[in-house]
Parts: sequence; C-alpha cells; structure tokens
Amino acid sequence: MEFSEVISTRRAIRKYKKDHVSEEKLARIYEAIHAAPSGNNHQPYKFIFVKDAEQRLRIASEACHQEFLFEAPVLMVACCEKNRAFDVAIAVDHLVLAAINEGLSTCWVGWFEKDIVREILSIPEDIEIAILVSIGYGDENPPAKERKSIDELIRIDRYS
Ligand SMILES: Cc1cc2nc3c(=O)[nH]c(=O)nc-3n(C[C@H](O)[C@H](O)[C@H](O)COP(=O)(O)O)c2cc1C
Repeated sequence: MEFSEVISTRRAIRKYKKDHVSEEKLARIYEAIHAAPSGNNHQPYKFIFVKDAEQRLRIASEACHQEFLFEAPVLMVACCEKNRAFDVAIAVDHLVLAAINEGLSTCWVGWFEKDIVREILSIPEDIEIAILVSIGYGDENPPAKERKSIDELIRIDRYS
C-alpha cells in the first residue's frame, strides 16, 4: 500500500470479523516495532500480543469494559520503563501503520484498568502499562473524523 494511503485510510475500528491474523502478518508488524527509533536507542519497552482467547476475554471484560474488544483476535498491550511514554508511543504508531499496510484494522485503547491488566499478564510493578491496541480484520467502514484545520495545528517560526 502507498504510504499516503496507509495514513489516509486508518481509522479507529471498533467492530471486527472473527478471522484469524496470520503469523506472517504479525511478523511484519513485529519488524515495524523493531525498527522504531527511541531515545539513545534504549528501546525501553515490551509489547505483549495477547492471542489466547481466555486472556483476551478477561482483559476485555474485567479491565476494559469496552465490548468491541471481545471481538478483536489480537490485543496488544504496550509496556515501558517509567517516563518513557514518548518512546513507546512512537513504536506503537509504527505497529498501527504496519497493521494498516497488512490490510488489518486497529483501535488505540487508553481507557482501561491498568492494575487488572497487570495482574492478568503478570506485568512487574516497576513497568508502566502505556496503551492497549486491538488488531484484527475490521467489520465497519466509518468515515474520517473531522480534525481541526491545519492552520490551527501548524505554526511557522513561533507559537503565536
Ligand atoms: C491515546 C489514545 C487513546 C484512545 N483510547 C480509546 C479508548 O479507550 N476507547 C476507544 O474506543 N477509542 C480510543 N481511542 C481512539 C480515538 O477515539 C480515535 O483515534 C479518535 O476519535 C480519532 O478517530 P480516528 O482514529 O478514526 O481518526 C484512543 C486513541 C488514542 C490515540
């Protein structure tokens, strides 16, 4: 897929088909995470791909309370060292764009009960749980959401 198409077709998808995501596609997504930049090349993160149905059900029902997460065949939980949220966000965006390039859909999920996910996935206390992303074959085609104008977002040479 053209890069511009990856960017322009990405949407937050909250409805998924039951179709399995192949290991080949996931391997290319892992490569995109692996290629992400990080401060001092420290790579202060880990990405847990939850494929096991029972674990996914527990995360969706006990920690997220967002029904669409029951359907996605893969839930990815991004973890990082303390205060390394920038680094992990860059790698997660690599993941998301690589998934679109594979014909998959995703949704970033920031609202969930982190302590419950920590317990379900045995994540150590000194590690932050940054974000969760659902991954699968989308079963909806929402229109692009409106954005602020480019003029509102971009400034040249000074803030105001
Ligand atoms: C950091 C972050 C957290 C988000 N958390 C949630 C969430 O908990 N639940 C949800 O349904 N969508 C969540 N979203 C998706 C946003 O609502 C969505 O990206 C936004 O409305 C723009 O729509 P679009 O992604 O289709 O362009 C999150 C997105 C981001 C980037």
